[in-house]
Amino acid sequence: MPNRGSTGQVRQRLLAAARRAASRAYAPYSAFKVGAALLTTRGDLFLGCNVENASYGMSNCAERTAVFSAVAQLGPKMEIQTIAVANNQNAPCSPCGACRQVIYEFGPKATVIFRSADGWKERSIADLLPQGFRLK
Ligand code: THU
Repeated sequence: MPNRGSTGQVRQRLLAAARRAASRAYAPYSAFKVGAALLTTRGDLFLGCNVENASYGMSNCAERTAVFSAVAQLGPKMEIQTIAVANNQNAPCSPCGACRQVIYEFGPKATVIFRSADGWKERSIADLLPQGFRLK
């Protein structure tokens, strides 16, 4: 699947929004605050942050918060064009496997912007999740 990419300007705007979302995270257990900024193919912007829980396994990642918020607002036909992820430590942080599968569900052609060990990267979800699962 081709990576539609994003212009430098869009990337900077999304990363700034993701950083703002990270500042609102609820992460008292890990102290690792993550934010995500999701751009739909129609140009709408949605934010997400991680929301942890004393029962650790109930925690939700920033990326899934953003996807679920977009679906709640726009409905299930919403398609992700780009999702950018940032954190409060400027640490390498690409979406976890669960979030990759959720991003793929609503954006099989989505571009993901994240920080890797060697700087910021922009990759298609298909590159990050080869053979993503689809039930049709
Ligand atoms: N986390 C995210 O929100 N997104 C990622 O891409 C990686 C991990 C969160 C989950 C947990 O609240 C904290 O970061 C530490 O794993």
